[in-house]
Amino acid sequence: MNPSPFNPLGPAHRISQEPESDETSHAKTRVGVFYATREGHTRRIAERIANDLRKRGFDVDSQCVQHPLVFDLRNYSAAVLAASVHAGSHEPEMVKFVKENRTSLESMPSAFVSVTLSEAGVEKSEATPAEHAQFVADVDQMLAKFFAETQWHPKRVKPVADALLYTHYNFLVRFIMKRIARKAGAATDTSRDYDYTDWAALDRFVEEFAAEIRASAAASDEPRMAAAADAKGKSNPHEQ
Ligand SMILES: Cc1cc2nc3c(=O)[nH]c(=O)nc-3n(C[C@H](O)[C@H](O)[C@H](O)COP(=O)(O)O)c2cc1C
Repeated sequence: MNPSPFNPLGPAHRISQEPESDETSHAKTRVGVFYATREGHTRRIAERIANDLRKRGFDVDSQCVQHPLVFDLRNYSAAVLAASVHAGSHEPEMVKFVKENRTSLESMPSAFVSVTLSEAGVEKSEATPAEHAQFVADVDQMLAKFFAETQWHPKRVKPVADALLYTHYNFLVRFIMKRIARKAGAATDTSRDYDYTDWAALDRFVEEFAAEIRASAAASDEPRMAAAADAKGKSNPHEQ
């Protein structure tokens, strides 16, 4: 449950046909974290991003786009989207979400977090230069496909290395994942889990994005402050 004044009883941002009025929306800057996951790791990443933003004073809602949406993107000042990749494509529900919300996304600071095993390859220190180049090309290709499909071109994109949660997968996923991991040179001991995510790098990414959100919120507040100062001056001619 989110104790913020905007969300005192939980998901108060239930889909409204119209965005909420300006009066309520500026006390704290609202950020939406929207994610899609198959095996659950991207949920952990989305939770980390949401918590990082909350610690920095933002009013944050987190929502999986694979369930009926209770939050309306238009009620936020900024958004982070996160999705994992399976068989070369980002989650189809995220593709759909972006297509349906592209106009809103383009009107606010936004960032995309892409979770893949290929990025774990990119960050693997023992990879040969040729392997490294191949992993980089794979990540680039999956991102290019997503941006071509959605026609969304966020300024901030963060590829994140995945986790191999062998002990959590069902038999079939564990079997497939082990084969994919072997091909990618990742760990194949299915009796334990492996977390390749660089959480500190993710925190730094959120820190940078938070600065962009603050700058954008300050810029959009400037005309309001000027108008308020102007109105105050007019109502008190002695101050002019
Ligand atoms: C069936 C399957 C297919 C996958 N395909 C790819 C792939 O094409 N490229 C890649 O880099 N990672 C691939 N992965 C790795 C996932 O992207 C990775 O495990 C990620 O952490 C899953 O995120 P999630 O737990 O949020 O669904 C695949 C994983 C599975 C289980």
